[in-house]
Amino acid sequence: MLKPAALLYDRAMRGVEEAGLLEWRRALLAPLSGTVLEIGAGTGRNLALYPEAVTSLVVTEPDRHMRSVLAHQVRTGTRRLEVVGAPAEHLPFADSTFDAAVSTLVLCSVADQASALREVHRVLRPGGSLVFLEHVAAEDRPTRLRWQRRFEPVWKRVAGNCHLTRTTERAIGSAGFEITAIERAGMRKAPGVVRPTVRGHATAVGPDR
Ligand SMILES: C[S@@+](CC[C@H](N)C(=O)[O-])C[C@H]1O[C@@H](n2cnc3c(N)ncnc32)[C@H](O)[C@@H]1O
Repeated sequence: MLKPAALLYDRAMRGVEEAGLLEWRRALLAPLSGTVLEIGAGTGRNLALYPEAVTSLVVTEPDRHMRSVLAHQVRTGTRRLEVVGAPAEHLPFADSTFDAAVSTLVLCSVADQASALREVHRVLRPGGSLVFLEHVAAEDRPTRLRWQRRFEPVWKRVAGNCHLTRTTERAIGSAGFEITAIERAGMRKAPGVVRPTVRGHATAVGPDR
Protein backbone atom coordinates (compact mmCIF):
# COMPACT_ATOMS: atom_id res chain seq x y z
CA MET A 1 0.00 0.00 0.00
CA LEU A 2 1.24 3.54 -0.74
CA LYS A 3 2.49 5.45 2.27
CA PRO A 4 -0.25 8.16 2.15
CA ALA A 5 -2.89 5.42 2.02
CA ALA A 6 -1.46 3.89 5.19
CA LEU A 7 -1.45 7.29 6.88
CA LEU A 8 -4.99 8.10 5.74
CA TYR A 9 -6.52 4.69 6.51
CA ASP A 10 -7.74 5.50 10.03
CA ARG A 11 -9.14 8.85 8.95
CA ALA A 12 -10.89 7.33 5.93
CA MET A 13 -12.44 4.62 8.11
CA ARG A 14 -13.55 6.84 10.99
CA GLY A 15 -17.16 7.31 9.84
CA VAL A 16 -17.58 3.59 9.12
CA GLU A 17 -16.06 2.61 12.48
CA GLU A 18 -18.39 4.97 14.34
CA ALA A 19 -21.40 3.79 12.34
CA GLY A 20 -21.00 0.23 13.61
CA LEU A 21 -17.76 -1.38 12.48
CA LEU A 22 -16.06 -0.76 15.83
CA GLU A 23 -18.91 -2.51 17.66
CA TRP A 24 -18.71 -5.46 15.26
CA ARG A 25 -14.99 -5.75 15.96
CA ARG A 26 -15.49 -5.57 19.72
CA ALA A 27 -18.23 -8.23 19.78
CA LEU A 28 -16.28 -10.62 17.54
CA LEU A 29 -13.08 -10.42 19.59
CA ALA A 30 -14.71 -10.53 23.05
CA PRO A 31 -14.89 -14.37 23.36
CA LEU A 32 -11.21 -14.92 22.47
CA SER A 33 -8.64 -16.36 24.87
CA GLY A 34 -5.18 -17.93 24.85
CA THR A 35 -2.72 -17.51 21.98
CA VAL A 36 -4.03 -15.40 19.10
CA LEU A 37 -2.71 -14.59 15.62
CA GLU A 38 -4.11 -11.61 13.70
CA ILE A 39 -3.27 -11.48 9.99
CA GLY A 40 -3.00 -8.19 8.08
CA ALA A 41 -3.42 -6.06 11.20
CA GLY A 42 -3.10 -2.81 9.22
CA THR A 43 -2.88 0.19 11.54
CA GLY A 44 -3.91 -1.92 14.55
CA ARG A 45 -7.62 -1.11 14.79
CA ASN A 46 -8.28 -4.30 16.76
CA LEU A 47 -5.41 -4.07 19.24
CA ALA A 48 -7.24 -2.28 22.04
CA LEU A 49 -10.25 -4.58 21.71
CA TYR A 50 -8.67 -7.91 22.68
CA PRO A 51 -9.90 -9.18 26.05
CA GLU A 52 -7.60 -9.85 29.00
CA ALA A 53 -8.01 -13.59 28.47
CA VAL A 54 -5.80 -13.32 25.37
CA THR A 55 -2.42 -14.24 26.85
CA SER A 56 -0.29 -13.91 23.72
CA LEU A 57 -0.92 -11.87 20.60
CA VAL A 58 1.05 -12.06 17.34
CA VAL A 59 0.07 -9.71 14.51
CA THR A 60 1.25 -9.91 10.92
CA GLU A 61 1.39 -7.02 8.45
CA PRO A 62 3.34 -7.36 5.19
CA ASP A 63 3.05 -3.73 4.10
CA ARG A 64 5.94 -1.71 5.54
CA HIS A 65 4.00 1.57 5.59
CA MET A 66 1.09 0.01 7.44
CA ARG A 67 3.62 -1.68 9.70
CA SER A 68 5.21 1.62 10.69
CA VAL A 69 1.81 3.00 11.74
CA LEU A 70 1.19 -0.28 13.56
CA ALA A 71 4.57 -0.12 15.31
CA HIS A 72 3.62 3.27 16.74
CA GLN A 73 0.34 1.80 18.09
CA VAL A 74 2.26 -1.08 19.62
CA ARG A 75 4.71 1.29 21.34
CA THR A 76 1.93 3.40 22.82
CA GLY A 77 -0.29 0.46 23.84
CA THR A 78 -0.06 -1.50 27.07
CA ARG A 79 -0.28 -5.05 25.69
CA ARG A 80 2.85 -7.06 24.88
CA LEU A 81 2.74 -8.38 21.37
CA GLU A 82 4.87 -9.44 18.45
CA VAL A 83 4.67 -7.85 14.99
CA VAL A 84 5.72 -10.02 12.03
CA GLY A 85 6.12 -8.79 8.44
CA ALA A 86 5.02 -12.01 6.70
CA PRO A 87 2.12 -12.33 4.24
CA ALA A 88 -0.74 -14.63 5.26
CA GLU A 89 0.16 -17.03 2.44
CA HIS A 90 3.51 -17.81 4.12
CA LEU A 91 3.19 -17.74 7.88
CA PRO A 92 6.50 -18.36 9.71
CA PHE A 93 4.93 -20.43 12.50
CA ALA A 94 4.84 -24.14 13.30
CA ASP A 95 1.67 -26.18 12.83
CA SER A 96 -0.92 -25.85 15.61
CA THR A 97 0.70 -22.80 17.25
CA PHE A 98 -2.40 -20.71 17.98
CA ASP A 99 -5.77 -21.09 19.71
CA ALA A 100 -7.42 -18.51 17.47
CA ALA A 101 -6.80 -16.42 14.37
CA VAL A 102 -8.36 -13.11 13.36
CA SER A 103 -8.90 -11.64 9.90
CA THR A 104 -10.74 -8.35 9.57
CA LEU A 105 -10.98 -6.78 6.10
CA VAL A 106 -7.92 -8.73 4.92
CA LEU A 107 -9.15 -11.70 2.85
CA CYS A 108 -10.29 -9.20 0.21
CA SER A 109 -6.68 -8.08 -0.26
CA VAL A 110 -4.47 -11.16 0.05
CA ALA A 111 -2.92 -12.26 -3.23
CA ASP A 112 -4.09 -15.85 -2.87
CA GLN A 113 -7.11 -16.33 -0.62
CA ALA A 114 -7.04 -20.15 -0.67
CA SER A 115 -3.35 -20.29 0.32
CA ALA A 116 -3.83 -17.71 3.05
CA LEU A 117 -6.72 -19.66 4.57
CA ARG A 118 -4.80 -22.92 4.31
CA GLU A 119 -1.90 -21.34 6.19
CA VAL A 120 -4.19 -19.97 8.88
CA HIS A 121 -5.75 -23.43 9.23
CA ARG A 122 -2.28 -25.02 9.50
CA VAL A 123 -1.07 -22.76 12.31
CA LEU A 124 -4.31 -23.16 14.32
CA ARG A 125 -4.55 -26.03 16.76
CA PRO A 126 -7.23 -28.63 15.95
CA GLY A 127 -10.53 -27.08 16.98
CA GLY A 128 -9.01 -23.60 17.03
CA SER A 129 -11.18 -20.72 15.89
CA LEU A 130 -11.04 -18.23 13.05
CA VAL A 131 -12.73 -14.88 13.60
CA PHE A 132 -13.60 -13.18 10.32
CA LEU A 133 -15.09 -9.87 9.24
CA GLU A 134 -14.85 -9.36 5.51
CA HIS A 135 -16.58 -7.43 2.75
CA VAL A 136 -17.75 -9.71 -0.04
CA ALA A 137 -19.50 -10.06 -3.39
CA ALA A 138 -23.12 -8.90 -3.39
CA GLU A 139 -24.36 -12.29 -4.53
CA ASP A 140 -28.00 -11.52 -3.69
CA ARG A 141 -27.98 -8.04 -5.29
CA PRO A 142 -27.36 -8.41 -9.06
CA THR A 143 -27.13 -4.67 -9.74
CA ARG A 144 -24.63 -4.09 -6.96
CA LEU A 145 -22.63 -7.14 -8.06
CA ARG A 146 -22.45 -5.69 -11.59
CA TRP A 147 -21.07 -2.44 -10.15
CA GLN A 148 -18.58 -4.38 -8.05
CA ARG A 149 -17.37 -6.23 -11.17
CA ARG A 150 -17.13 -2.99 -13.10
CA PHE A 151 -15.14 -1.16 -10.37
CA GLU A 152 -12.93 -4.03 -9.28
CA PRO A 153 -10.01 -3.58 -11.74
CA VAL A 154 -9.52 0.06 -10.74
CA TRP A 155 -10.35 -0.47 -7.06
CA LYS A 156 -7.70 -3.17 -6.74
CA ARG A 157 -5.08 -0.77 -8.03
CA VAL A 158 -5.94 2.15 -5.79
CA ALA A 159 -6.89 0.19 -2.66
CA GLY A 160 -4.00 -2.19 -2.02
CA ASN A 161 -5.23 -5.17 -4.09
CA CYS A 162 -8.66 -5.06 -2.43
CA HIS A 163 -11.06 -7.30 -4.42
CA LEU A 164 -14.77 -6.52 -4.46
CA THR A 165 -16.26 -9.81 -5.64
CA ARG A 166 -14.71 -12.48 -3.45
CA THR A 167 -16.98 -15.20 -2.04
CA THR A 168 -15.08 -15.45 1.20
CA GLU A 169 -17.66 -17.48 3.11
CA ARG A 170 -17.26 -20.35 0.63
CA ALA A 171 -13.47 -20.00 0.65
CA ILE A 172 -13.43 -20.37 4.46
CA GLY A 173 -15.50 -23.56 4.19
CA SER A 174 -13.26 -24.94 1.44
CA ALA A 175 -10.12 -24.40 3.55
CA GLY A 176 -11.20 -26.87 6.24
CA PHE A 177 -13.21 -24.64 8.54
CA GLU A 178 -16.71 -25.20 9.84
CA ILE A 179 -18.54 -21.90 10.17
CA THR A 180 -20.25 -21.92 13.56
CA ALA A 181 -21.69 -18.39 13.55
CA ILE A 182 -22.20 -15.96 10.71
CA GLU A 183 -23.97 -12.66 10.18
CA ARG A 184 -24.45 -11.00 6.83
CA ALA A 185 -25.01 -7.25 6.99
CA GLY A 186 -24.33 -4.00 5.20
CA MET A 187 -21.39 -1.98 6.54
CA ARG A 188 -23.00 1.36 7.28
CA LYS A 189 -21.47 4.53 5.79
CA ALA A 190 -19.20 2.41 3.54
CA PRO A 191 -19.25 2.90 -0.26
CA GLY A 192 -21.85 0.62 -1.86
CA VAL A 193 -19.29 -1.63 -3.51
CA VAL A 194 -17.76 -2.64 -0.15
CA ARG A 195 -20.97 -2.61 1.88
CA PRO A 196 -21.94 -6.31 1.88
CA THR A 197 -20.09 -8.12 4.66
CA VAL A 198 -19.91 -11.46 6.42
CA ARG A 199 -18.66 -11.79 9.97
CA GLY A 200 -18.50 -14.59 12.46
CA HIS A 201 -16.57 -17.53 13.85
CA ALA A 202 -15.33 -20.75 12.24
CA THR A 203 -13.65 -23.82 13.72
CA ALA A 204 -10.58 -25.52 12.21
CA VAL A 205 -11.74 -29.00 11.22
CA GLY A 206 -10.92 -30.91 8.06
CA PRO A 207 -9.46 -34.22 6.95
CA ASP A 208 -6.19 -33.80 8.87
CA ARG A 209 -7.84 -32.52 12.05
C1 LIG B 1 -8.23 -2.87 4.51
S1 LIG B 1 -6.76 -3.18 5.39
C2 LIG B 1 -7.41 -3.88 6.91
C3 LIG B 1 -6.54 -3.65 8.08
C4 LIG B 1 -7.05 -4.21 9.41
N1 LIG B 1 -7.09 -5.64 9.39
C5 LIG B 1 -8.39 -3.65 9.80
O1 LIG B 1 -9.27 -4.42 10.18
O2 LIG B 1 -8.53 -2.42 9.78
C6 LIG B 1 -6.12 -4.61 4.56
C7 LIG B 1 -4.81 -5.08 5.16
O3 LIG B 1 -4.44 -6.35 4.59
C8 LIG B 1 -3.05 -6.35 4.44
N2 LIG B 1 -2.66 -7.38 3.46
C9 LIG B 1 -2.62 -7.29 2.11
N3 LIG B 1 -2.15 -8.43 1.58
C10 LIG B 1 -1.87 -9.25 2.62
C11 LIG B 1 -1.34 -10.56 2.71
N4 LIG B 1 -1.02 -11.26 1.62
N5 LIG B 1 -1.19 -11.10 3.94
C12 LIG B 1 -1.54 -10.41 5.06
N6 LIG B 1 -2.04 -9.16 5.01
C13 LIG B 1 -2.21 -8.58 3.81
C14 LIG B 1 -2.75 -4.95 3.96
O4 LIG B 1 -1.38 -4.61 4.08
C15 LIG B 1 -3.66 -4.14 4.88
O5 LIG B 1 -3.03 -3.83 6.08
